[in-house]
Amino acid sequence: MKTGIFYGSTTGTTREIAETIANRLGIAPDDVHDVAKTAPSAVAPYELIICGASTWGDGEAQVDWLDFLDGVDMIDLRGKKIALFGCGDETMSDTFCSGVGELYKRLKKTGADFVGSYPADVYHFNHSEAIVDGAPVGLLLDQVNHSDLTSGRIDGWLLTLS
Ligand SMILES: Cc1cc2nc3c(=O)[nH]c(=O)nc-3n(C[C@H](O)[C@H](O)[C@H](O)COP(=O)(O)O)c2cc1C
Repeated sequence: MKTGIFYGSTTGTTREIAETIANRLGIAPDDVHDVAKTAPSAVAPYELIICGASTWGDGEAQVDWLDFLDGVDMIDLRGKKIALFGCGDETMSDTFCSGVGELYKRLKKTGADFVGSYPADVYHFNHSEAIVDGAPVGLLLDQVNHSDLTSGRIDGWLLTLS
């Protein structure tokens, strides 16, 4: 399945996770895209589109996603799969990884099928917009407080995508 990774990252954390995912899936660097430097139409060649965002502000998706989402949510992605991941900080307890929820809400408009819901009960938080109908919409990660969990969680999540 031709797979592309799209990420937005302010301090490099989500970029590093995107690169780790790419290495584990054997995805070439040309198929790993920083949304700050990429046109939304770049999603077109991929059957599986992996999207990663950190959360900033008061629970918003990382800022580079804003223009990208404005473009991509107009594109018909029916028949393709989207998998979401994101980095946050569980001490921001009312908005943990909520940026991933923002991606989910916006990208739903494309008609793509979402894959890769993955349990987040290892973290301690009150609320996240990335939990929809009781389940995470993707892989939520906390590199600030629980970086030791990340590698194993990525491996477990990748198994759900195959
Ligand atoms: C000012 C500020 C606001 C943040 N807001 C949130 C938030 O609302 N929810 C959350 O889960 N993490 C929040 N974080 C944590 C970041 O998402 C986390 O540090 C992440 O790893 C950054 O990834 P990046 O370098 O890829 O952008 C915030 C961090 C900062 C510095």
